Amino acid sequence: MKTSEIRQKFLSFFESKGHQVVPSSSLVPGNDPTLLFTNSGMVQFKDVFTGKETRPYSRATSSQRCVRAGGKHNDLENVGYTARHHTFFEMLGNFSFGDYFKREAIQHAWTLLTTVYKLPAEKLWVTVYQEDDEAYDIWATEIGVPPERIIRIGDNKGARYASDNFWQMADTGPCGPCSEVFYDHGPGIWGGPPGSAEEDGDRYIEIWNLVFMQFERDAAGNMTPLPRPCVDTGMGLERIAAVLQHVHSNYEIDLFQSLIKAAARETRVTDLDNNSLKVIADHIRACSFLVIDGVIPSNEGRGYVLRRIVRRALRHGHKLGQSGLFFHKLVADLVAEMGDAYPELTAQQSRVEQVLRQEEERFSETLENGMKILDAALAAVPKDGVLDGQTLFTLYDTYGFPVDLTADICRERNVQVDLDGFEVAMTHQREQARAAGKFKAVEGLSYSGAETRFEGYESLQGQGTVIALYVDGTAVAAVEAGQDAIVVLDATPFYAESGGQVGDAGVLRSGEACFEVADTQKIQSGVFGHHGTLKSGKLAVGDSAEAQVDVERRARTVRNHSATHLMHKALREVLGGHVQQRGSLVDADKTRFDFAHDAPMTHAQIAEVERIVNAEVLANHPATAQVMPYDEAVQGGAMALFGEKYGDTVRVLDIGFSRELCGGTHVDRTGDIGLFKIISEGGVAAGVRRIEAITGDNAVLWVQQTQDTLLRAAGLLKTQPAELADRIALMQGQIKSLERELDQIKSKLASAAGNDLAGNAIVLDGKAKLLVANISGTDPKALRGMVDQLKDKLKSAVVLLTTVADDKISLVAGVTSDLAGQIKAGDLVGMVAAQVGGKGGGRPDMAMGGGSDVAALPAATAKVEAWVRERLV
Ligand code: ALA
Repeated sequence: MKTSEIRQKFLSFFESKGHQVVPSSSLVPGNDPTLLFTNSGMVQFKDVFTGKETRPYSRATSSQRCVRAGGKHNDLENVGYTARHHTFFEMLGNFSFGDYFKREAIQHAWTLLTTVYKLPAEKLWVTVYQEDDEAYDIWATEIGVPPERIIRIGDNKGARYASDNFWQMADTGPCGPCSEVFYDHGPGIWGGPPGSAEEDGDRYIEIWNLVFMQFERDAAGNMTPLPRPCVDTGMGLERIAAVLQHVHSNYEIDLFQSLIKAAARETRVTDLDNNSLKVIADHIRACSFLVIDGVIPSNEGRGYVLRRIVRRALRHGHKLGQSGLFFHKLVADLVAEMGDAYPELTAQQSRVEQVLRQEEERFSETLENGMKILDAALAAVPKDGVLDGQTLFTLYDTYGFPVDLTADICRERNVQVDLDGFEVAMTHQREQARAAGKFKAVEGLSYSGAETRFEGYESLQGQGTVIALYVDGTAVAAVEAGQDAIVVLDATPFYAESGGQVGDAGVLRSGEACFEVADTQKIQSGVFGHHGTLKSGKLAVGDSAEAQVDVERRARTVRNHSATHLMHKALREVLGGHVQQRGSLVDADKTRFDFAHDAPMTHAQIAEVERIVNAEVLANHPATAQVMPYDEAVQGGAMALFGEKYGDTVRVLDIGFSRELCGGTHVDRTGDIGLFKIISEGGVAAGVRRIEAITGDNAVLWVQQTQDTLLRAAGLLKTQPAELADRIALMQGQIKSLERELDQIKSKLASAAGNDLAGNAIVLDGKAKLLVANISGTDPKALRGMVDQLKDKLKSAVVLLTTVADDKISLVAGVTSDLAGQIKAGDLVGMVAAQVGGKGGGRPDMAMGGGSDVAALPAATAKVEAWVRERLV
């Protein structure tokens, strides 16, 4: 059974059991700070489990793309060392949101495995959590698995609930006991059943994990029961494919074999069993899908995990002897394998290739040199020894070797790495950076009250009760005049920064108290903090306050925000559907918009975007917001942003020809934007462009200032702005011809001066002549030409010309060829230069030098005659 068929059969099976088939979500979990990447099928349903979010269905099934690299579930280190670990994989899953629980979950799993996939029952083993008698009984009595193949696993990892059979997504979040199904690959392969001493072998492989979600764990480790128990299951598609294709390693399934062959082709390797090929085949999947989901190699967060994976792949290529660029060429092979299941992969092929290629180019500059450093360091480390932290750090800092990359190489050579030493070196550097003032601390505030009611869509003025106050990060009961504080109100018209729009400023008043709000930021999701200073009076928790947003600042911000939506849409029209927002910052001055696009925009494209946006402005369309179910919004064509998480109901903003999901504040009609003007366009990262644009009075001011500059320039040239460019071109031509004339005049002057000087030569021995002269105010560059002319004119002569400019002496000596056997120009210059604190040299017939001791020059030149005479025979 091909991998694609296995995927399809899974989804159809659960669909037939009343499950909604839900598409895979992005690898970048929306707005979830606890999670680096989507690491299992349940991530997109996390809030449904906890009851924060509801969906119209209570059963779902999906094939979810997952990455387990970095974060709690991290398999990066295992890739290439085992038959079944991957950085990227697909997880098949079925989910129950307070609907069925253990019994049906177990029954469904068994039916699918034994009747749809037709696995022999005697090959299947199961585990249950030590205390889970209920699951044990279902397996034993209802399904009929013999007791010797049901294994209880307890807290075997050193803490309460730290168990292979207790699953949690991350350190916090939904979790619960689980029951796992194992497949026995047979006695031909080493390994023992789960829980045995040989469990790490490859014989018994976990294929399906059924999690019985029962708790939500908070940061302090407290377990709160979920409102209703749920089911979350996960089956690695690649593992089940290996079982159903009768191969032992995941890397032997149809999909991986094609990628391994492609990697072998690009690295010119013939042995398809080479581990490095597996690593490369694994990594091209993770890297390509991460790029599709908006991750770009960088030095922090998700981007750094991507960078680590790419660099690891490149190092394995290097190990196979491939020092050129090869990795990005595998994207086409991946598209051939997986493009059908993931149309977004096909659509973005060239962008993915480009992003990966740039990262390859960047790292190939340092990979070779870093490897030399590492090889040299390793040569000094004994087998089973330790590589020191400073070398690890140097490789990291200077050569771009992520620590796990170096560790991977060391592991191949049985060498450990000194991670503590690395941390010391790293901390040292961080402290230096901090001392240089580069880092600002951000404090978390403790708050357990209600969420803020936001009233600022309708009004810029409102009434609220102070429900919390903070000074220097600590909750206080009251604030005195002069203090900086954060005020939380139960309701406010102040918009808190989010979705790229800055927070509002303004003022809160309560009796005598006047609190100037400089910024509004969420202190927690849904809780708005007004940051500012109490100018007068006293403000206490419980006070009622009048809130007034800075109207002008909000109006400007709103204009820029609405213009951003129109621009986003216009960019897609002009550049193509691949344009996607990558980041935005909207404030009162401008909008700064980052988007995926590979090439600089042309002037014509920029002008076209401006034209389209301004046409929408002129049409004076109304802006309307409606709250509706997510599906309806997306079906209605609303642009949803990558990496954003949306609840079941979303706010859809229609403005002109644009429809986007957006929680921000906007103009009433497009005409309110006034004028829209793009003022810059440039690149910020591989495949990402940045536009800055302005609106309203800012745009008018910009136009006026630009015109002012043009008028002043035109005034200086006594012409009109429209004529300016022609006029400047004309002037450039004139300047060129003047420069040419000037050069001619200079050389004429020099030759005239040379003629005059010739008369000053003295005759040495009836034929040979000597001319020594200091020519003040001459361009040193002209001396050479003069010396040549004097040689021509005097026929048989030694010439030394000097000049002094800015306290620097320039010397040029020339000797006619008849005398060159006796006197070398280089020696002459050298002799003089040595006396004026300088150096010189050159050919026997022409040499140059310099010096700085101007006072010594006359005495030095006075010696020339005697020096020359001595050498003339
Ligand atoms: N969420 C569970 C897992 O990833 C099913 O194993």
